[in-house]
Amino acid sequence: MKFFLDTASLEEIKEAVSWGAVAGVTTNPTLYARIGGKIQDFEEHINKICTLVKGPVSAEVTAPDAAGMVAQGRELAAIAKNVAVKVPMTLEGLAATRILANEGIEVNMTLVFSVSQAILAARAGARYVSPFVGRFDDIAEDGVVHLVNIIIALGNYDFSNDGPKGERIEVIAASIRNPSHVSQAALAGADIATVPFGVLKKCATHPLTTNGLAAFEADWEKVKQA
Ligand code: G3P
Repeated sequence: MKFFLDTASLEEIKEAVSWGAVAGVTTNPTLYARIGGKIQDFEEHINKICTLVKGPVSAEVTAPDAAGMVAQGRELAAIAKNVAVKVPMTLEGLAATRILANEGIEVNMTLVFSVSQAILAARAGARYVSPFVGRFDDIAEDGVVHLVNIIIALGNYDFSNDGPKGERIEVIAASIRNPSHVSQAALAGADIATVPFGVLKKCATHPLTTNGLAAFEADWEKVKQA
């Protein structure tokens, strides 16, 4: 499983990239608003992110209709080679995805919650599909179960002829809220987990690691004084 960072913060991206495991970035309008982003700076901001990571950087369209999504998608894809256009899972989004995929533009279909939505996204040519895990937990359902179902269903078929470049559609486990979601996504075989900065930090820690290191340091002091 690859790690993407789910943030629009350049500082977080720079720091997390230095940890060596970040293969891409996902953003959305909420994440851009959270850093105080302005509409006129959006494309330049995406361009900056694209210089910080080699892998795919998801930038989301905001138009409600297919024509608007396609126009925005083309503009976003022109920012840098590693932009993946994030498109919401609606009928208009599916229509836009098919057009963008036919033009060789990679689409990350977002706000996916069901097997049927995921299959439709794949058939419309999405390069990535993003099932949301945590938002199911918010409504007292088990998001991991839905993620597992989507991975199994997509694995039953070959969608490579549907996508922009003949590659297999990849599942991005999204709306990840804690290290347990990350572990469950990996056990389920998600291709990618897109993880907030704070959760990624937590993934690297374990109380037994902390305790073990403290014991090594204390014992090394004894060695130095022996
Ligand atoms: O990648 C989508 C993700 O950012 C949604 O996360 O926590 O808003 O459900 P959340």
